[in-house]
Amino acid sequence: MTIKVLRQAASLLGVACLLALASPAQAQDPGLLKFWTTCGACHTLDTTGGHSEGPNLWGIVGKTMGVLPRFATYSAAMKEAAGRNVVWTEELLDRWLQNPQAMVPGNEMEFSLDAAADRAAVIGYLRTQR
Ligand code: HEC
Repeated sequence: MTIKVLRQAASLLGVACLLALASPAQAQDPGLLKFWTTCGACHTLDTTGGHSEGPNLWGIVGKTMGVLPRFATYSAAMKEAAGRNVVWTEELLDRWLQNPQAMVPGNEMEFSLDAAADRAAVIGYLRTQR
């Protein structure tokens, strides 16, 4: 069994717990479900600022790219992008999720969301997480 499978299992377990705690309206939020069944394998989303394989995405909309405190493992490509002081808008997040490598070549996020509806749902959910 690979680490990836274990990570996904942990993520799905997390979703089950989350849905048990969520209100009925939250449980039907497609962005919440999509986030925790995909991004949640590598990203945390909480106010304490703890990180996972990827950086904690709490309050990411409006933050500067590649400069989250205490996330020590940004790639060189991401650090260089951070030097340009780019702020994460919803439009940029949409571009990123469609093809992270096209936007910041050499970064280490090996994931993308092909369906525009999925990207919109996740970004809508992230907007509320601040
Ligand atoms: C397989 C693991 C993985 C998955 C799945 C994943 N990411 Fe990432 N993500 C990363 C890593 C690793 C980085 C840091 C990249 C670097 O430093 O090069 C990152 C970086 C990011 C950043 C930049 C953060 C910053 O501080 O500027 C955003 C935004 C982001 N991911 C959003 C998402 C969203 C939203 C999803 C789900 C649709 C997702 N990611 C799915 C691993 C992942």
